[in-house]
Amino acid sequence: MLLKVKTLIKEKLLKHYQFPVLVEEPKREEADLAIPLFNLARQTEIKITTLAEEIKALLSEEELISEVYFLKGFLNLNLNKKLYAKAVLKEVVTLKEDYGSVKEKKGVVVIDFSSPNIAKNFSVGHLRSTVIGASLARLYQKRGYEVIKINHLGDWGTQFGKMIVAYLKWGDETSLKTNPIDYLQNLYVKFHEESNDSLEEEARFVFKELEKGNKKYLALWQQFKQLSLLSFQEIYELLKVSFDYYHGESFYQDKTAEIVLKLNEKGLTKKDDGALIVDLEKENLGVSLIERSDGATLYMTRDLAALFYRFKTFNFSKILYVVGNEQKLHFKQLEAITRLMGYDFEIIHVNFGLILKDGKKMTTRGGNVVKLKAVIDEAIEIAEAVIEEKNPHLKNKEEVARSVALSAIIFNDLKQDRNLDIEFDLEEMLSFEGLTGPYLQYSSVRMASLLKAQTLTGKIAYELFEDELYFKLIKEVSVFNELLEKSLEADAPYLISRYLLNLAALFNRFYSSHKIIVNEEIVKNTNLTLTFVVRTVLNEGLKLLNMTVLDEM
Ligand code: ARG
Repeated sequence: MLLKVKTLIKEKLLKHYQFPVLVEEPKREEADLAIPLFNLARQTEIKITTLAEEIKALLSEEELISEVYFLKGFLNLNLNKKLYAKAVLKEVVTLKEDYGSVKEKKGVVVIDFSSPNIAKNFSVGHLRSTVIGASLARLYQKRGYEVIKINHLGDWGTQFGKMIVAYLKWGDETSLKTNPIDYLQNLYVKFHEESNDSLEEEARFVFKELEKGNKKYLALWQQFKQLSLLSFQEIYELLKVSFDYYHGESFYQDKTAEIVLKLNEKGLTKKDDGALIVDLEKENLGVSLIERSDGATLYMTRDLAALFYRFKTFNFSKILYVVGNEQKLHFKQLEAITRLMGYDFEIIHVNFGLILKDGKKMTTRGGNVVKLKAVIDEAIEIAEAVIEEKNPHLKNKEEVARSVALSAIIFNDLKQDRNLDIEFDLEEMLSFEGLTGPYLQYSSVRMASLLKAQTLTGKIAYELFEDELYFKLIKEVSVFNELLEKSLEADAPYLISRYLLNLAALFNRFYSSHKIIVNEEIVKNTNLTLTFVVRTVLNEGLKLLNMTVLDEM
C-alpha cells in the first residue's frame, strides 16, 4: 500500500516535471515519506522553495496525504492515518491469505534444491538447502511464478564404482537392510582405508561398466538408491517438503554425449592428458573437467546436461541452485561455459554458509557424525518438555511439539543472511523468547486466542489509528507486498524473517500497553480487526518460510 502511494506521487511528479523524482521512506521515521529537493532543484533549475510550494500544491488534492512540509532540504509527507488505515484494513480483510499474492503469471522458475547424495547421510548442508529452497519455492509461487522443484540427487559418479566394489568384497544384504545408509557409508570409508592401485582400478572399471548398463551393477546401484530415498523421505515428511521431480544425476547419463558434442563443435574443449577439459583461464575460473581419460563423465557434464534438459522441458526464465558456498566456483564455471556456448541463462547460485556447532563446522563425515534424524528427534523431545511444562492439558501435544521443533530448526536457518554461517544450538532455537521460531508461533497463538469466540462486526473507530502503535502496525502490514518483492529479488527469506520478528514485537508491545478486549464495542472491534489483520500477515509470512501456523500451543 505504501508503494501504491509512492508510485502515485512519483507518477504525478513525473508528469509535471517530465523528470523522475525520488520519493523515499526516511530511515529515522520523522515522516512517512520524503522527497529530497537538492538534486531536483539542480536538475530542474528551479529554486528549492519554489519546488516545495509547487509540489505541495500538486499533492494538495491527494486524500491519502495529510501533511506536506519542508525541512532541511526535504519535503516531508505524512499520511492521512485514518484513511490509510481504512484502506489497509479493507485490503487485508478482503484478501485474507491472498494478501501479498500476485495473480498475473510471471513465468517459470526452476529451483534445484536439497539434492543429497545417495548412500550417504543427509547432511546439515542438505538441510540448509532444503529449508532455503522450500521457502523460496513458496515465495516465488506466491508472487505469480510457476515453480518447478527438482531434487538433483547425487546418484551417479565414480564413487558408485567404489561403493559397488566395496559391497561385493565386504558387504552382505542383511546388514545393508538393517541400517542401509550407515552401512554403505562405512563400506565407502573402508574402501578408502584399504585403497590401493588395483582396488582403484577395479572401481573405475566397475563404474564404466555401470555407465554401459551392466545389469548386476545396476541392480545393486538401484537398491542403494531405493534404500537411500526411503530414509531421505522421512526427513522430507517432517519438513513438509515435496518435489516435482527426483531427477538425479543418473537421469542425465544418456544426455551428456550431446553436450560433449556441442562443446566440441563450438571449439570450447581441449585434450589434457587424455581428459577433455574446458579452459576457463581467460575468465579466471581455472579449467573444468568434462570427460575423464576413460570416457567417464563428471559432475559438471551432468549439470550441463541437466541445464539444457530443463531449459528445453520447462522453458524457465530463471534457474536457482540452492547449494553451499563451497560450490561457488562450480556454478561460476557452469555459467561461464553456457555463456561461451552462446546462451544467457539467468543462473542464480543461491549460496549459503555452514552450520556450526559451538563455532565449529558441523559435518557428517570425518568421525564427527551428526545424524540429522537424531538431531531432529532431540529437538522434538525438548519441545515436548517445554509444552509439558507450559501447557500440560494441550490436545495433540505430540503433533504440536513436532511442528514447534521443526519450525524452530527452520527459523534458526532462515533468520539471518544465508551467506553467513549459522549456529546450531537446540536449546536456544527452541526458546519461546528471543529471535526464534517458537516466539513467532507463540505470537500467532496469542492472537488466535484473542480472536477466538469473537466475531468481527465491521465497525471501526478509525481515529484510533492516530495513536502511534496502532499506526505503526498498520504501516508495517502495508509494506508486506514490497517486502516480499525485495525478498524475491535477493532470494533472501531472511528478509521475511526479520520482518516477522519486527511485526510480532510491535504487536506484543501493543498487546502489553493496550487492553484489547474492552467494553466499548467499537474499540474492541477495532482492536480485534487489527489483531486479525496482523495475524493474517504473520501467518502468511510463516507459511512462506515453510513453518507451521498453530492455533494453540
Ligand atoms: N549433490 C550435490 C552435493 O551434495 C549437490 C547438487 C546441487 N545441484 C546441482 N545441480 N549441482 O554436493
